[in-house]
Amino acid sequence: MTTTQTRALADAGPTFPPGFFFGAATAAYQIEGAVDVDGRGPSIWDTFSHTPGRTARAETGDVACDHYRRYREDVALMADLGLDAYRFSVAWTRVLPEGAGRVEQRGLDFYRRLVDSLLEAGITPWLTLYHWDLPQALEDRGGWADRDTALRFADYAAVVHQALGDRVPHWSTLNEPMCSSLLGYMAGQHAPGRRDPAAAARAVHHLLLGHGLATRALREAGAESVGVTLNFTPMSPASPAAADVDAARRLDGQQNRMFLLPVVTGEYPADVVADLDAAGAPLPVEDGDMDVVATPVDWLGVNYYFRSVVSALPEPTGKASPFIGAERIDDAAPPGPTTTMGWAVTPEAFTELLLRLRDIAPGLPMVITENGSAWPDTPGVDGRVADHERVDYLLGHLAAVADAMARGADVRGYFAWSLMDNFEWARGYAQRFGLVHVDYDTQRRTPKHSAAVYRDLARRHRESR
Ligand code: FCB
Repeated sequence: MTTTQTRALADAGPTFPPGFFFGAATAAYQIEGAVDVDGRGPSIWDTFSHTPGRTARAETGDVACDHYRRYREDVALMADLGLDAYRFSVAWTRVLPEGAGRVEQRGLDFYRRLVDSLLEAGITPWLTLYHWDLPQALEDRGGWADRDTALRFADYAAVVHQALGDRVPHWSTLNEPMCSSLLGYMAGQHAPGRRDPAAAARAVHHLLLGHGLATRALREAGAESVGVTLNFTPMSPASPAAADVDAARRLDGQQNRMFLLPVVTGEYPADVVADLDAAGAPLPVEDGDMDVVATPVDWLGVNYYFRSVVSALPEPTGKASPFIGAERIDDAAPPGPTTTMGWAVTPEAFTELLLRLRDIAPGLPMVITENGSAWPDTPGVDGRVADHERVDYLLGHLAAVADAMARGADVRGYFAWSLMDNFEWARGYAQRFGLVHVDYDTQRRTPKHSAAVYRDLARRHRESR
C-alpha cells in the first residue's frame, strides 16, 4: 500500500473530540528482558516460565525485546509514531527485589531514565504499578492469597511514587486483577500456576484491597490522576434456555462485575458472593475493607479484546476454567474469523460494553488502556509487514469507541496493545500483537503497516485540533 493509500485509510477513519489522545501500551516482563541486571529479584513469572510445561516452547521473558537496554531506541520509535502517551509497567522486583524492605535504586534509575526520555520526546507517561509480576519472595509467603501482600503492594506504590511522582502524571494500580487471580490461582494457566479455588477467591479480594490501599498511598503522596485497569469480556448466553442464561450470568459475574462493582460501589455483587460461597471459595472480606476498595479513582482503565458466547453443559468440560464453580460451563468465540489467539473480532460488543460501563459508573472517565489483536505478521520479501487484518481490527475498534462516545461514554484516550511484538505470557513469542514487528534474533524493530495507519490517524487528529 502506498503512503497516499495509507493516508486515505486513516482519513476515512473515525474522528475524536479535541483532547482525545492516542498511545500504545506494554508491560515490564513482556518487553524488558535483562532479568538478572541491576539487582532485579525474581518474580513469579521468572519461576513460572522456567518451569517445564508452563509456556509454549518453554519460552521465557529472559531476553524478550531487550527493552531494558534499548529503551532509548524504543522511545525514538514512539516519537516517530507520533504517540501522545505511553503506558508501561514497573517491575516490582527491580524496585524491591524481595518484594518488601530493601529498595534497589538502580531499578528505580532505569524508570527515571525511561520517563525522562519520554518527557523529552513530548510523550506522556502512564505508569502501571502491577502488571502480573509478583515478587517470588511474596509468593513464597502465600502470594495474593495472603492478606499481607495487599499491604506490601501499598508500600511498594509509595516507594515508586516517591521516586517518580515528580514526573509521572498518571498512575494505575493494577492491570487486570481478573487474570492475576483467576488465571494464576484458579486455572493455573498463568503464574504462579496454582489451581485452588479458595486461594483464587482470596487473591481476588486481596488484589482489590491492595488496589484501594495503594490508591490511598498515592493520594497521600500527592498523585492527582489515579486509576485501575480492568479487563472486560461481554458474556452472552448461547441460547435463551435458562441454564445458558444462568451460565452467562455466572461468568459475567466473575469476569466483569466482581472487579468493577467493588471499586465503584463498594460492594461485591450478591449473586457472585452466593456462587463463590456455594463453591467453598468465599471472599475473605474483613470489616472496613470495602471502604478501602472503593477509594475513589479518577478514571477507569478498560481493556477489551473480544466477546464470548456461554453455554451450560450436562457434563464437566474437563478444561481448566478460570471461573470458580464453572465445571459445566463453556465459553467460546461467536462464529466468524478469529485472531491467532483464537479470539473473536467483535467491535460492536465494544460499543455496548462502553455504554454499559457508562451506566454502571456514571461520571467516571474511561481510558482504553488496551485493545489489539495478534496475526501471523510474516514480513514480505521487502521486509515490510502488511498487517491488513490488524488495520481492520484497529479502525473497527476505534470506530466502536467513537460510536460509544457519540452516545455519551466519556472516553479520554486509547492505548493500542501493543507498541511492539513481545512475550505473550504462556503463549510465548508466536503471538504478535505489536504495531511494530520485532525480529527476536536480531532485535530489529520494523513498524508494520498498522503503525503507519495509526500514526496518520493521530496526526490528522492533532491537526484538526
Ligand atoms: C492482556 C494483558 C496484556 C497482553 C494482552 C494480549 O490480558 O494485559 O499483557 O497479554 O492481554
